[in-house]
Amino acid sequence: MGTTGFKLGVRSAAFALALCGMSHAADRGKGPVSRQSIESKIEYCLICHGTSGQGFRGYYTMPRLAGQQPQYIENQLHAFKEGRRLNPIMQNVVTGISPGMIQPLAEYLRSLNAAPHGGGPTEGAGLGKRIFEVGLPDANIPACAVCHGPDARGTRQIPRLAGQLYWYVTKTLTNFSRERGQRGEDSSGIMAPVARNLSPAQISAVAAYVSSLR
Ligand code: HEC
Ligand code: HEC
Repeated sequence: MGTTGFKLGVRSAAFALALCGMSHAADRGKGPVSRQSIESKIEYCLICHGTSGQGFRGYYTMPRLAGQQPQYIENQLHAFKEGRRLNPIMQNVVTGISPGMIQPLAEYLRSLNAAPHGGGPTEGAGLGKRIFEVGLPDANIPACAVCHGPDARGTRQIPRLAGQLYWYVTKTLTNFSRERGQRGEDSSGIMAPVARNLSPAQISAVAAYVSSLR
């Protein structure tokens, strides 16, 4: 991690985008947020999530946020705030985010275009691709592409998986129902049965496959 490497000049186009989101947020009465407070918050997010939002493999794997669907990010930030999704680090982080900040942060993160981190195992690549594209009907596992899209880029509340870190995807699928949907049914209920039916070897294969996609 180290230095944040956050350069305003280079990213001004993305900021223009983020600021559009900001005025909408203010319009909806969520309270005005200063450009400076958004900038410093983004800088804070990228300390953990990588200088280009590419994620970071450390003692605790930091997920990629670059290119993520804004509606998914917004939903997850609310989920941490409301205790629907459990994670001590992010539940602490969201206490410092005001409602008006969420949309500009999500729009900014979508604009980042990091290359995949790589590093997942290669031996299950064929199986991973098959699970993603056609599923395993005999094991009651649907094709991931049906919901996450043929390029794994997601849509609205369905997350992008392309380029997501292998270690994070593995952990997330393994622990899915222990971390999400903690206050009754929410958007995670769509994904929970899929995660439950995957074996550890299948999880590893499909996680390696999506982590390699751009
Ligand atoms: C201290 C480190 C840290 C900081 C700072 C931080 N995060 Fe996180 N974030 C994490 C960790 C760790 C996770 C993984 C949680 C898990 O395993 O479920 C995470 C997960 C997330 C997720 C869910 C990703 C997914 O794919 O489901 C979002 C969205 C997110 N962070 C947004 C932010 C935003 C926006 C900021 C800045 C306001 C931020 N984070 C700051 C550590 C951090
Ligand atoms: C019926 C639609 C559907 C199918 C099929 C589906 N997913 Fe999902 N997936 C979702 C939704 C919706 C979410 C967001 C859940 C939430 O809000 O917590 C999600 C979330 C995820 C996440 C969490 C991402 C993150 O950043 O934390 C992973 C990983 C994932 N899916 C992998 C898969 C894999 C692998 C497959 C195929 C075996 C698959 N999904 C099939 C709908 C689906």
